[in-house]
Amino acid sequence: AVTRTFSIIKPDATRRNLTGAVTKKLEDAGLRVVASKRIQMTKEQAEGFYAVHSERPFFNDLVSFMISGPVVVQVLEGENAVKANRDVMGATNPADAAEGTIRKEFAESIEANSVHGSDSEENAKIEIDYFFKADEIVG
Ligand code: CMP
Repeated sequence: AVTRTFSIIKPDATRRNLTGAVTKKLEDAGLRVVASKRIQMTKEQAEGFYAVHSERPFFNDLVSFMISGPVVVQVLEGENAVKANRDVMGATNPADAAEGTIRKEFAESIEANSVHGSDSEENAKIEIDYFFKADEIVG
């Protein structure tokens, strides 16, 4: 089925002018960008987005990193979008990421790993709603 997922192009990638290169990988994987905006996240926004990780030792560094520069938040649509996106992103740690994936090609570290993608359809809905109004998404 055609479904949607949520993606973030992280500050390490926007800083290196890789927005287009990352988006090309997503499109080549069969995903369509049906919403996109470049934003500077606030600390509160980043803390809310990553609330599930708030007890993790890396939480404060993660929030600091995510507000260290602009990000591009996107809604992606395609056949089995959550899995298609996760496959093209590659493993969280770029050292473990497969050849040809976004993180293998572009990520700098487990923290500066260039992209975020929803891990389930349920979370995709929550994450899309966190950043987008319905009329900002045009399929
Ligand atoms: P993301 O998919 O955005 O969700 C949580 C993020 O925490 C993850 O990608 C990583 O970039 C980041 N992170 C930083 N350190 C770690 C770590 N030690 N283990 C897992 N995730 C980490």
